Order: sequence, then C-alpha cells, then structure tokens
Amino acid sequence: MLPAYLPNPIAALVGGGTPIDLGRNFTDGKRVFGDGKTYRGLIIGIFAGIGIGLVQIRVSGAYGWENLPEQTYMSITLLATGALLGDLCKSFFKRRLGKERGSKWPIADMYDLVAGALLMVLVFDPGWLFANMTLAIFIIILILTPILHRAVNIIGYRFRVKEVPW
Ligand code: CTP
Ligand code: MG
Repeated sequence: MLPAYLPNPIAALVGGGTPIDLGRNFTDGKRVFGDGKTYRGLIIGIFAGIGIGLVQIRVSGAYGWENLPEQTYMSITLLATGALLGDLCKSFFKRRLGKERGSKWPIADMYDLVAGALLMVLVFDPGWLFANMTLAIFIIILILTPILHRAVNIIGYRFRVKEVPW
C-alpha cells in the first residue's frame, strides 16, 4: 500500500498553486473541489507514490522480503493515481455536502485513498489485486489506515505543513 499511502502526505507537503477546479463553482454554486486540491499536489503526489513503488520493485527479493506482494509498474501507477483520485472524489462530495475545505469528514477523509487505490486496481488490474489481496491483508489495511492517517496528520500539523491536525 506504500504507493497509495505516500501521495497524500507529499501533496500536503508540496501542494499549492493552481487549484484543479481552476477556482470554478459547480452547479450548486459551491466549489467543484476547492483550494485544497491542486495540480502540483496531484502530479507530484502521484510521482512520489510511483517513486516509492519503484524502490519496492527494486528491493523486492532482497533482505528476505520475498513474502511481500510483488509490485509491478502497473500496480504502483494504479495505486498512486487511485489514491489521489479517491481523495479528489471525496473532496467533490465534501463540497456538495457544504463542508468547507479542510473541515473534518471522519470516515471519508481516512478511507478515500484506500477506496480510490483499490478500486483502480480492481478495475484495471484485477489479476494483481486478487493475487495479492487476502481478507487478512484487507483487515490490516482497514485498521492501519486510520492510525497512519492520524499520526501523519498530527506530525504535519506540528511541522506546520497542515493547518489542522486531521
Ligand atoms: N493537496 C494538494 N493537491 C491535492 C491533494 C492535497 O495540493 N490533490 C494539499 C493541499 O494543500 C491540502 C493538503 O494537501 O490542503 C491536505 O490535503 P487534504 O487533507 O486532502 O485536503 P483538505 O485541505 O483537507 O481539503 P478537503 O476538505 O477538500 O479534503
Ligand atoms: Mg483534509
């Protein structure tokens, strides 16, 4: 899941500049995605996820880590892209519900990237997903995600990368 987990914190670190919705509103008069979703965050975030995936491919088999899922160029690209597309989708619906950029939306804010990443591999590389995903791994992802999410966001808040600790 590393290629899915890394894009969000990297986007928070480097994000800013032109928003993906170019500042435009949706038909309901509210922003399409909001200022928290920028091209820079999206693109650099995806490259960061692919980058960590390339490292995983490179070191796989070394250090006795043979039991880890075998990443492929396809899987890392789908996981990284899906994570931030899931995040983008979440923001779309968050705006429709009238929630401000950066406001709390507990379950969605945590699992958006997991849903996006897994949906992408399910659609475009189901063979990889079913070869590597077990119920146990899925449950570990469900448990680990909120913990990592909270920890990383608190760190981001302490270092003033994020304006809020969630
Ligand atoms: N970010 C970005 N581009 C993205 C995703 C994130 O620039 N595609 C940056 C933004 O600076 C954003 C920060 O990462 O503020 C944290 O991301 P996130 O918590 O997902 O965004 P929020 O600001 O909370 O906005 P939203 O309410 O839409 O989730
Ligand atoms: Mg947020």
